[in-house]
Amino acid sequence: MKDRIGFGIIGAGMIAELHARSMQELSNVRLVGIYDKNAEAARRRAEQFRCKAYENFDAFLADPEIEAVTIATPSGMHGEVAIPAAKAGKHILCEKPLEITLEKVDALIRACDKNNVLLSPVFQTRFTKPVQLVHEAMRSGRFGRMVLASAQMRWYRDPAYYAGSSWRGTWDLDGGGALMNQAIHMIDLLIYINGAPDEVFAFAGTLTHSIEVEDNLCAAVKYRNGSFGTIEVSTSCAPGFPRRLEFSGSAGTVAFEEDKITRWEFASPQPQDEEILRELSGKADAKGGRAPMNIGSNGHASQISDLAEAIKTGRRPFLDGREGRRAIELICGIYESARTGKPFFFQR
Ligand SMILES: NC(=O)c1ccc[n+]([C@@H]2O[C@H](COP(=O)([O-])OP(=O)(O)OC[C@H]3O[C@@H](n4cnc5c(N)ncnc54)[C@H](O)[C@@H]3O)[C@@H](O)[C@H]2O)c1
Repeated sequence: MKDRIGFGIIGAGMIAELHARSMQELSNVRLVGIYDKNAEAARRRAEQFRCKAYENFDAFLADPEIEAVTIATPSGMHGEVAIPAAKAGKHILCEKPLEITLEKVDALIRACDKNNVLLSPVFQTRFTKPVQLVHEAMRSGRFGRMVLASAQMRWYRDPAYYAGSSWRGTWDLDGGGALMNQAIHMIDLLIYINGAPDEVFAFAGTLTHSIEVEDNLCAAVKYRNGSFGTIEVSTSCAPGFPRRLEFSGSAGTVAFEEDKITRWEFASPQPQDEEILRELSGKADAKGGRAPMNIGSNGHASQISDLAEAIKTGRRPFLDGREGRRAIELICGIYESARTGKPFFFQR
């Protein structure tokens, strides 16, 4: 079996740098090259990471050394590069959101299925320790009957964040605002830990930025397991605070802010609880709420490594396209409710 899977990166912007850095840290991956429709951007990134730069997309796709690609183009342009990559037989790690409408997400999933390539949507926070511990506590029934599952993201993005980009803050290419772009990781975690939604009602508004999409949104959710929750997200809250998730059941409550556990209390304590609190409690870093690229490379590295192992062994990746679709379904339902002023009901 080959030691390292050859990867190419499509899009050479901000997040591509993290992809390339993660790949360099891994022993089961080799970064072969980078393509960007802006040839100069590809050349600069390739020079930085000592790999090939491609000016031509067909030449990039034709390179047999590239077995898998990561998609790091603007959100509403994922499908237009990922579908040709799937047709060329490349396995795909696609940045969040997979695409910005369910129709486009489904077309991408179909193309990967049809061409027998793996699709892994980036949700790097799923790989963090607090998330895995809460997921396991939920799976083993420690919460009792679930009653509330809520997310709060009071972040701040300055006007330059949107002004400096041709696609951020637009419906066509960002697909939404604080919810679709920034809070999607939290939406994914609500679903991963507490399960699918049944019904949602939401308000959304553009309160402080000159953008098309929402910078503030509040939603009430009813989940299929009978519990309720709120989703409160903003990119207008100066100076910006850590993201917070809280899960409560009849037998326990857990809250975490970024990667710190701030509450871990169960009616029936277990021996490992003290160790969990010793290792993971503390004050969360607020930097992510203030600076867009305050992202460590661990999560991306874990996810890229997982896809490489899936390719090598023929197993499924930890997260697949259908799993990545679920957050987009909830987000689109929330937007529909905010637009119509009516509750949105999800299909079972
Ligand atoms: N997982 C995370 O936490 C995280 C963080 C930031 C961004 N992202 C996601 O990463 C994606 C890219 O974001 P970014 O901040 O790096 O954007 P960016 O604007 O910095 O970079 C995008 C790059 O894509 C290139 N590009 C555009 N269209 C292309 C095409 N058709 N073919 C090839 N290259 C093309 C642009 O020239 C640019 O260099 C977005 O979907 C975003 O949501 C994810």
